[in-house]
Amino acid sequence: MKGIVLAGGTGSRLNPLTRVTNKHLLPIYDKPMVYYPIQTLVNAGIEEILLVTGGKNAGDFLRLLGNGRPFGLKHLNYTYQEGEGGIAEALGLAEFFAAGEPICVILGDNIIEGNIAHAAESFKRQGRGAKILLKEVQDAQRFGVAEVRGDQVVGIEEKPKSPRSNYAVIGIYMYDATVFEKIRRLKPSGRGELEITDVNNFYIEEATLSWDILKGWWTDAGTFESLLRANTLVAETGANKMDLHSRAGAATPAEVV
Ligand code: G1P
Repeated sequence: MKGIVLAGGTGSRLNPLTRVTNKHLLPIYDKPMVYYPIQTLVNAGIEEILLVTGGKNAGDFLRLLGNGRPFGLKHLNYTYQEGEGGIAEALGLAEFFAAGEPICVILGDNIIEGNIAHAAESFKRQGRGAKILLKEVQDAQRFGVAEVRGDQVVGIEEKPKSPRSNYAVIGIYMYDATVFEKIRRLKPSGRGELEITDVNNFYIEEATLSWDILKGWWTDAGTFESLLRANTLVAETGANKMDLHSRAGAATPAEVV
């Protein structure tokens, strides 16, 4: 499985922190935000990683991350998103990189305590379709929200005013190669973006979407409140067992999804 980190966007909810830099370069405790999602992929045994970014600060990612040596990688791939077409548009740029293989996509502002190695393994066994990860939250209206009936996710709503559950869809998604054809079928949403939630709903229509509940804490870091929470959580309890000099695959069974 190949990994894709989405680190574009304007970060408008963090203005003025993001006026002169990219959101994903802001600090979370003692490291730049983008370190955490890269480490999450590496901890799942993923070694081929593409970073998608855009805007005026794209070059800073190259200076910061180089070939990914701090993560034990030999190489990092980069691509540039022109404009602000949303998460699914950014993912569409990864088609050439994916080259028909399954992918694990992580949003650059999503930080987890544990790891996704077990979910990645179970998606490999699944063989086709998609897998999402859910987490129970208090403020579901800020996220994509899953409607769960029995053991099925029957629909996902993006930032609903009246959420049908407390299960947020976290920003880590696993897809087979048909994701790119699905992205081509998307229409811009009310906020003018191609929504990842619509992609996931296509998989639900096909009955090929599986889901897991993530263990350990999860937070995004795209608002002032969540940025503060991410800093506090990482400072107090650490995130995804970050060991910047060890290789992938160090997950212990107790920590997996
Ligand atoms: C995005 C997705 C949303 C998901 C969230 C997780 O929202 O659209 O479905 O729950 O990431 O962080 P954003 O906060 O980028 O608007």
